[in-house]
Amino acid sequence: MKTEIKVLMFGDVVGNLGCVAFQKHAEQLKQQYRADFIIVNGENCHTTGRGITPRLVNFFKHNGADLVTSGNHIWGSKEILGYWENGDADLVRPANFPSVCPGKGHAVLTKDGVRLGVLNLQGRIFMREHLDCPFRSADTALSYLKHHSDVILVDFHAETTSEKMGLAHYLDGKVAGVVGTHTHVQTADERVLPHGTAFISDLGMCGALNGMLGMQIQPVLQTFLTQMPSKFIVEQEPPAVISGVCITANVATGLAMGIERFRVIDNQVKT
Ligand SMILES: [Fe+2]
Ligand SMILES: [Fe+2]
Repeated sequence: MKTEIKVLMFGDVVGNLGCVAFQKHAEQLKQQYRADFIIVNGENCHTTGRGITPRLVNFFKHNGADLVTSGNHIWGSKEILGYWENGDADLVRPANFPSVCPGKGHAVLTKDGVRLGVLNLQGRIFMREHLDCPFRSADTALSYLKHHSDVILVDFHAETTSEKMGLAHYLDGKVAGVVGTHTHVQTADERVLPHGTAFISDLGMCGALNGMLGMQIQPVLQTFLTQMPSKFIVEQEPPAVISGVCITANVATGLAMGIERFRVIDNQVKT
């Protein structure tokens, strides 16, 4: 069995441009980092920029992803509601949604004898949904995952750096990594915390670099200027940005050995 594993984690993929950019770069990055697993946040991969469909989960799997995580936009497309009825475990939604919601908040992936547990949680500060406490939900999920995984990673889909850092310190020494998603802006604070948990406040996104968090600029500006709602549209023009980290974890201890950030800009990618 391997003594260490490397896991690539990609930030929120936004619309068609994000999907095409992921398709073009995921395999190359996997080879570059000699990664064993790929995890990607797909909550914005729908053509509208909100939600995901079963076809898009398969798209990610066919392009190297082992698991798709999500966040507040998981219910953006109704097509996904029945996805888990066949027991599919390659898409997770935040574990702290009400238990009546479809889907599960964690998954265990096995490759070359190594069991990688992945937990998806959502924050509560400045988020619209009223979810269970992510800290206590983490405790509940980890009471299961620690007995069924060698290495555990957490995608914490949250708005504020403080809540993300708080969860990372709360779990320091218990999981190999806590990575933030949701803001679509990559932070430069990646590090291994004192007790061995890799952390970054936000992975960033895969989508149009010169849009507004992957969407066209004008409708967003219009909302700022008028305080009236407007229809946000995914930006399709390159350049695209592909953002994330590679976490190296020790299989015996379940803790991080390192975290490296990547941010690729591609002027050529086209939908
Ligand atoms: Fe997002
Ligand atoms: Fe989000």
